[in-house]
This record gives sequence, C-alpha cells and structure tokens, in this order.
Amino acid sequence: LWTPGNIIDDMMARVREQVGSDHVILGLSGGVDSSVVGALLHKAIGDQLTCVFVDTGLLRLHEGDQVMATFARHMGVKVIRVDAEQRFLKALEGVADPEHKRKIIGGHFIEVFDEEAGKITDARWLAQGTIYPDVIESAGSKTGKAQVIKSHHNVGGLPEQMKMGLVEPLRELFKDEVRKIGVELGLPTEMVYRHPFPGPGLGVRILGEVKKEYADLLRRADDIFIDELRRADLYDQVSQAFAVFLPVRSVGVMGDGRRYDYVVALRAVETIDFMTARWAHLPYEFLDLVSRRIINEIDGISRVTYDISGKPPATIEWE
Ligand code: XMP
Repeated sequence: LWTPGNIIDDMMARVREQVGSDHVILGLSGGVDSSVVGALLHKAIGDQLTCVFVDTGLLRLHEGDQVMATFARHMGVKVIRVDAEQRFLKALEGVADPEHKRKIIGGHFIEVFDEEAGKITDARWLAQGTIYPDVIESAGSKTGKAQVIKSHHNVGGLPEQMKMGLVEPLRELFKDEVRKIGVELGLPTEMVYRHPFPGPGLGVRILGEVKKEYADLLRRADDIFIDELRRADLYDQVSQAFAVFLPVRSVGVMGDGRRYDYVVALRAVETIDFMTARWAHLPYEFLDLVSRRIINEIDGISRVTYDISGKPPATIEWE
C-alpha cells in the first residue's frame, strides 16, 4: 500500500542498510527535493548526516536564514552554511551571456561544495535529491539549459570527482509524491509547495551582467511580489512567479523630484509541465498593488511591467 508513512519507513530502512554507520553529506539548496532528503536522512541516520548549504548571493530574500532556521535550529540538523557571495560575484564580473553565466555559476557551485565536502574527511556517501524525472531527463537530453545545471546539482558531476557513493532515496519518486513525503516528515507546507527556482538563481533573472546592487534590488521586488501573491491566495494558483531585473533606467517622478531608476518585470505563469505555459491573468487590482508597493518601497526601482508572453515562443525565464 502506497502511503507516505510506508514509503518513508521503507526508504529509511534502505538508507540505513546502504550507509551503515558511515557519514553522509548532502547539499541543501532550499528547494523541495534536497529539503525532503535532508529531513528523511536526519530521521534515518541523525548525526551521521552533515548538510552543506552554499549561499551563492543569487538566492531569494532571507533564503539562507530560512534554511538555517528550518533545518539547523528547528530540526537540529548539522548544517554548514558557506557564504560564497563574493566569490560568485567576482566570477560573474563582466559576464553578460546567459549560458556563460550558467556555466560559471554551475562550475563555482561544484568547486565550493567540493571544498566544503572535502573538509568532512570521514564522509563516505553523498546524498542527492534526484527524483525520477531527473533520471529520465539526464538519460535523454544532452544540452537543454535546465539540464546543464540539473546535471551539476543533481545527477552525476560531483560523485566522480569526490569518489563517494551516492545516496538517492527519491530516485523512484515523482514530484507530487516527494511533496507528500515532505509534509509527512514535518517540513513546512510553504517550503514543500514552493514554486521551482532555477539552479543559477537570480543569476539568470538579472539580465546581462550580475551586480550585487541589482541582486539586492531584485530580491526585494521579488519578495514583495511573492508576499502579495500569498496574501491574496494566488500563490498556489500559479505554477511559477518571480521578478526579473532589467538593467535599464527609466524616468519617473516622486514627490517634487525626478527619478531615473531601474525597471523590473513581473512574471507569473500557469503550466502543467513547464514545456508550454500561459501567462497568468492576475487581477489588475492585484498588479496595481504590487507595482505601487515595489515603486514606493524600493529606492532604485521606478517602473514595473508585467510580462504577457506565452511559452512558446517566449521561455518562462528571461534568460
Ligand atoms: P524556461 O525558461 O526554459 O524554463 O521556459 C522552464 C523551467 O526551467 C527552469 N529553468 C532552470 N532550472 N537551471 C534550472 O535548474 C536552469 O538553468 C534553468 N533555466 C530555466 C525555469 O525556472 C522553469 O521552471
């Protein structure tokens, strides 16, 4: 009988048998899959698990703090948080091409993770949040852009270099099953039902060159958008929503003054499989509220636009 409880018991038994008394490392990303693996392994092997969370500086507002609160403080999981913002920003300096940015971010992610994992000298196993669709995808496709990072973050890549065995308890599961298991394990529903977030993070939501100033502005605009979607009970009605930073400046007025500030685009889509998508027909009043909040609260952004492009021909992300 398939119940989340049964599956969890079964997976815990299998993990214990696989790793014995060895130490296991897991890269936590803040996403659903690695979070569920973290919660599961913690339950199965407790202190034998060490998680590594790499803050690339390209994450959403307070993301690192939330991961630490949920896992380290709340659940008592051992988590090493690596602040690698400077390193990623430095590596991205002067780089505008989206695929080049993806390569740099993926490559540095592996380097940083590798360094941290290398310090945990008694670790014999690397756990990953690979789920069934990742397995299929990596068998089939060669150069899809999502795949480039998925392959860095999830399937392959790391273990060869690190010569550790792989622990992939979710390998046979679909996303909806992973979510049910996450809820059963006690993870916050908000975390378990979060929209997907690309591996390269804000790196591909800042058009062109990535700068800290841009990332900070974008994080705040994105947070306002998501916050209002949740308040209006619209978050779960869209498949993915986010803000994009446009490094162009536009004139505006504020009080008696003239502003010459940056632009953000809001994107919200409805989709089943992310291969095709329709732009979400969010209520005008809602968009009005979000736009006002962003422009009033964020010094540095003077204009907000809403993306009304379907996929195809547009992609969901802007880069
Ligand atoms: P596009 O923009 O191709 O996005 O319509 C489809 C889905 O894939 C996500 N996406 C990525 N995920 N690394 C990832 O892990 C990437 O480089 C990447 N690019 C796009 C995107 O967020 C959407 O859910």
